[in-house]
Amino acid sequence: KKYLVLNGPNLNLLGKREPDVYGKNSLETLTAQMKKVAEDINVSLDFFQSNHEGDLIDWLHSAEEKNYEGIIFNPGAFTHYSYAIRDAISSITVPVVEVHISNVHAREEFRHQSVTAPVSAGQIVGFGLFGYELALKALVEHVKGREA
Ligand code: DQA
Repeated sequence: KKYLVLNGPNLNLLGKREPDVYGKNSLETLTAQMKKVAEDINVSLDFFQSNHEGDLIDWLHSAEEKNYEGIIFNPGAFTHYSYAIRDAISSITVPVVEVHISNVHAREEFRHQSVTAPVSAGQIVGFGLFGYELALKALVEHVKGREA
């Protein structure tokens, strides 16, 4: 079973970008950590990061044909206003779990809204990079529940 970890804009700068908010670990570290978790629970993972809205939409669209069981998605700031990304999530049957490293609800007002969460299977916020692991485990259970 194959899952996709999709990261949106500015997440390529993890570790360098506002480390007090997002921590000191890089996207490479996250990738390595997630590979280990995936091995432990016997699933395979692909990773993609883009700063471009359209690229993220293309990856969402191709999730079905690439046989992903689910997508762990941190849409970055697109979360708060991208109806195009929301529509892309709505357009596919592959379930998405939204992840935010920081607790967006404890931050600026504009981060309190997610236009993508209502069309996602669930949302995990505020637990740092551990949120990606939680999201993967939640997705695996979610997919099992769907199959049952
Ligand atoms: C983020 C939160 C967003 O508000 C922000 O624009 C990001 C990162 C997070 O992971 O906490 O780019 O998605």
